[in-house]
Amino acid sequence: MATTNGAVSTDALFSTSLISPSVVSALPEGYTIRPLQRADYGLGFLDVLRVLTHVGDVAQKEFEQRFDEMKAGGGGYHILVIMDGEQKIVGTGALIVERKFIHQLGKVGHIEDIAVAKDQQGKKLGLRIIQALDYVAEGTGCYKTILDCSEANEGFYVKCGFKRAGLEMAHYY
Ligand code: ACO
Repeated sequence: MATTNGAVSTDALFSTSLISPSVVSALPEGYTIRPLQRADYGLGFLDVLRVLTHVGDVAQKEFEQRFDEMKAGGGGYHILVIMDGEQKIVGTGALIVERKFIHQLGKVGHIEDIAVAKDQQGKKLGLRIIQALDYVAEGTGCYKTILDCSEANEGFYVKCGFKRAGLEMAHYY
């Protein structure tokens, strides 16, 4: 997104007022948490996602285009990043807020794409990401948050306070 003077804006995907103060204070010394920014391409964001799944070759322009689409999408996309003391992205997670007609125009939070860099796992960063996304869900008026995960990650989500509910079905295209 170009600013009026032509410079590239590095603005955040969503308001920093939705960042949980208690998560900020619970992070390891020197670590920070914030919304994804348009200028984050070079800070290791996609590499962290590669811990989770295939990402592909995404050029900076394509990253920025997708960021702009998410930002223009009516405030539904909330992607967080955790940075280490050297300003490298070491963890990420997303909350997509779905607007409904049912449940009195209710909103549901969908947790997606949780990933912590391999050498940073086991430091409670995953837990902090989920706590931070829960704060976003509450702050945006969601009545519940749901996610899909593998059996291997069930224990992690149970430790984060989730419980098994329902069954995932999929069509792949
Ligand atoms: N099974 C059971 N317990 C687990 C697991 C697991 N797979 N992973 C972590 N835990 C436990 C920890 O031992 C810890 O327990 P404790 O409080 O008793 O010490 C607690 O959960 C919190 O662990 P964290 O240190 O916060 O976990 P971490 O930062 O390592 O992040 C994560 C966990 C996100 C699953 C990480 O291992 C990762 O990135 N894995 C690869 C990508 C992935 O599978 N992401 C989830 C996909 S599902 C989705 O995105 C909706």
